[in-house]
Amino acid sequence: MFQEKCRVTSIIQRSTALWEVSLLSPAISAASRPGHFVNLLPSDDWSPPMRRPMSIAAVSGDIFRIIFKIVGSGTEKMRSWKPGHLVDCIGPLGNTWTDYDAYFPLLVGGGVGIAPIQFLHEDLTAGRIRHSLIAGALTSGEHLFKHDPDSGVWLTTDDGSCGISGNVIMGLKKAIAKIPEKSEALKIFCCGPPAMNRAVGEFALQAGIRCDISVETVMACGTGICQGCAIELQQIASELPIYRQHFALACKDGPIFRAELLF
Ligand SMILES: Cc1cc2nc3c(=O)[nH]c(=O)nc-3n(C[C@H](O)[C@H](O)[C@H](O)COP(=O)(O)OP(=O)(O)OC[C@H]3O[C@@H](n4cnc5c(N)ncnc54)[C@H](O)[C@@H]3O)c2cc1C
Ligand code: FES
Repeated sequence: MFQEKCRVTSIIQRSTALWEVSLLSPAISAASRPGHFVNLLPSDDWSPPMRRPMSIAAVSGDIFRIIFKIVGSGTEKMRSWKPGHLVDCIGPLGNTWTDYDAYFPLLVGGGVGIAPIQFLHEDLTAGRIRHSLIAGALTSGEHLFKHDPDSGVWLTTDDGSCGISGNVIMGLKKAIAKIPEKSEALKIFCCGPPAMNRAVGEFALQAGIRCDISVETVMACGTGICQGCAIELQQIASELPIYRQHFALACKDGPIFRAELLF
């Protein structure tokens, strides 16, 4: 974990809803793996005073990228960043996606939850690991990818303006139908809004498919100190320290959890 003042090298609007910032940080970039996040200060004057967690969406050399959606004061401040601005970041934080080489990976991202999924997608593509990507959005303008089932990229839109009309579960079913491997060989990697995470988690549990989900809770410290991100697990997580096996910390034990622990 490093704390660095990271220089903004570019800030662009990637879709109607999402912005992408490139940040120069040799230390954080070198240590980041898909699934990690940074906790950053939107403003130098500590307004708002708490850091905001943002998933790492890509790394290239000394630069890492984040993708964000404007929802409140912190992300509104982030939109006004200009190239050259220094951003105080702590990271990389949290756990990472694992076991993607032991199974056929099905990557599912919804809304801004596409950020950590994009990083995994780029990592698997670079490692020539065959996988499918299912991305869900309300409408076509919110998507970062092109619908291309032959390359394993499936888009869904709620309004039917591109890809499959409907939600990511419909995309998942179509993607699975195209894969020759049996269900035991599949594993879902998912990040999206709470309702989508629940739907994907319950689908996976019913279908007997392994599934890891990255959750987005409200966080403060991001490093396991404030206890502000505690989530109640549905099963005892024996792999965690004993005092966090029932109430885990999303920032330290997660943000990625097995679906059966969440639902
Ligand atoms: C591990 C992790 C990774 C994340 N990665 C990304 C990312 O890559 N891109 C991105 O845009 N966002 C991401 N988020 C969510 C992001 O941190 C919040 O949207 C952001 O902190 C909101 O700050 P704000 O000041 O703009 O909004 P606020 O003014 O703090 O809140 C505005 C509204 O958003 C809600 N909200 C605040 N924080 C969250 C949250 N964590 N989850 C859901 N709702 C929230 C509030 O309840 C309120 O209704 C991530 C969250 C976590 C925990
Ligand atoms: S955000 Fe402080 S303990 Fe998780």
